[in-house]
Formats: sequence, C-alpha cells, structure tokens
Amino acid sequence: MNVYEAITKRRSIRRFKDKAVPIEALEKCIDAARLAPSGRNQQVCKYIVVNDAKVLPGVFENIGGSAKLPPDKGGPRPEQSPKAYTIVLINKKLEGDANRRRITLYDAGMAAENIILTALEQGLGCCPILMFNEGDLKLILEIPDDYDIALVIAMGYPDESPTADVFKDSTNIYVDEKNLRHVPKRKLADIIHRNGF
Ligand SMILES: Cc1cc2nc3c(=O)[nH]c(=O)nc-3n(C[C@H](O)[C@H](O)[C@H](O)COP(=O)(O)O)c2cc1C
Repeated sequence: MNVYEAITKRRSIRRFKDKAVPIEALEKCIDAARLAPSGRNQQVCKYIVVNDAKVLPGVFENIGGSAKLPPDKGGPRPEQSPKAYTIVLINKKLEGDANRRRITLYDAGMAAENIILTALEQGLGCCPILMFNEGDLKLILEIPDDYDIALVIAMGYPDESPTADVFKDSTNIYVDEKNLRHVPKRKLADIIHRNGF
C-alpha cells in the first residue's frame, strides 16, 4: 500500500472486532510517531499505549463523542469497543512556555497521523478523540503533573467500513439504514486555489 492509497483508505473507525491488539503493533506506531515533524525538533510528545483488557474499560469510560454513540447511531456494541489506545502526551517541562502550545499541538497532530497510518498498514483502524476526561484519565494511567493529554487515539481491528462520500450540502457524518457510516468530504475543486486565492 503506498502512502496516497493509505490516506484515501483511512476512515475513522469506532466499531472494532473482539480481537486483542499485539503490543508490537502499537510499538511500531509509536516508532513512526518518534520520526514525525516537530517544531524546533523539540519532540515534546510522549505516548502511553494501552492494550491490557483490565485497563481498557477505564479509558473507554472517559472518552466521548461519536465513539460513544448508541449502536443504532453508529457507536459500538459493548464487544465492539476499542481494543487499544494511544494517549498522546505533551511534556510541559520540555514545552517550557505555555505560549508554545500553539506549536506543540501541531507536533501532537503530526505524530498522530503517523500513528494512524502505521496502524492502518498493520490492519488496525483508529479514531482520534478530543472529547475525553483528562483528570480521570490522568489518575487511571498515573500520568505525572508535568504532562497534559493532547489526544486519545482509539484503536483496534475494524468492524465497520465507513465510506468517504462527495460533499453535497453538509459535512455531517451519518449512519444509513444498514448502519454504514458516511463521511462527506469536500471536493478538490472546492478547496484548491492555484497560484493565489
Ligand atoms: C482533532 C480531532 C478531534 C476528534 N475528536 C473526536 C471525538 O472526540 N470523538 C469522535 O468520535 N471522533 C473524533 N474525531 C474524528 C472525526 O470525527 C473524524 O475525523 C471526521 O468525522 C472525519 O472522518 P474520517 O476521519 O473518517 O475522515 C476527531 C478528529 C480530529 C481531527
């Protein structure tokens, strides 16, 4: 699979097979994150990978958004909940000054895409999640005060195949009567400006 193919195939996955994710697969994703672009090459991110069945439910309790919708609205049945997570952390000491958060969030985002594409290559689906309860996650995962959570990435073997549709009048994602998720994407012609706006 080449890079463009991977990018076009990737969709956010919120329903997963009841199959454990090996730690080696997660480690490969973090190795890809390690090599991502980083402002001033400061590499302020650290990562917690979670694949222990005893730890997964506590993380699931503390995430939200579409990943937690009822099954008939596109959310997972209990057995389809994520089978792994990557928690992307920002080291506040390395970041130094809170004004740099504007930059370090880009670091986290670029690292996240590396993680998601490396997961895809290994047959894993992902969903980036910004709706999470940071306080409780920090307690459960014993995250020191020097770190903030930038992003949670839910992971597992996909148990759904969302489609990228051509945008018509709304960017809202929806599930149809067959419980298939549709993700409208704006057309190239609607977003590109050549050699000036
Ligand atoms: C910064 C960011 C935050 C997101 N937060 C959530 C979230 O909290 N819950 C969720 O279910 N999806 C979340 N998503 C996934 C988006 O809903 C998804 O990327 C979007 O609908 C487009 O679908 P696609 O990823 O399949 O192309 C987030 C995505 C991004 C980039």
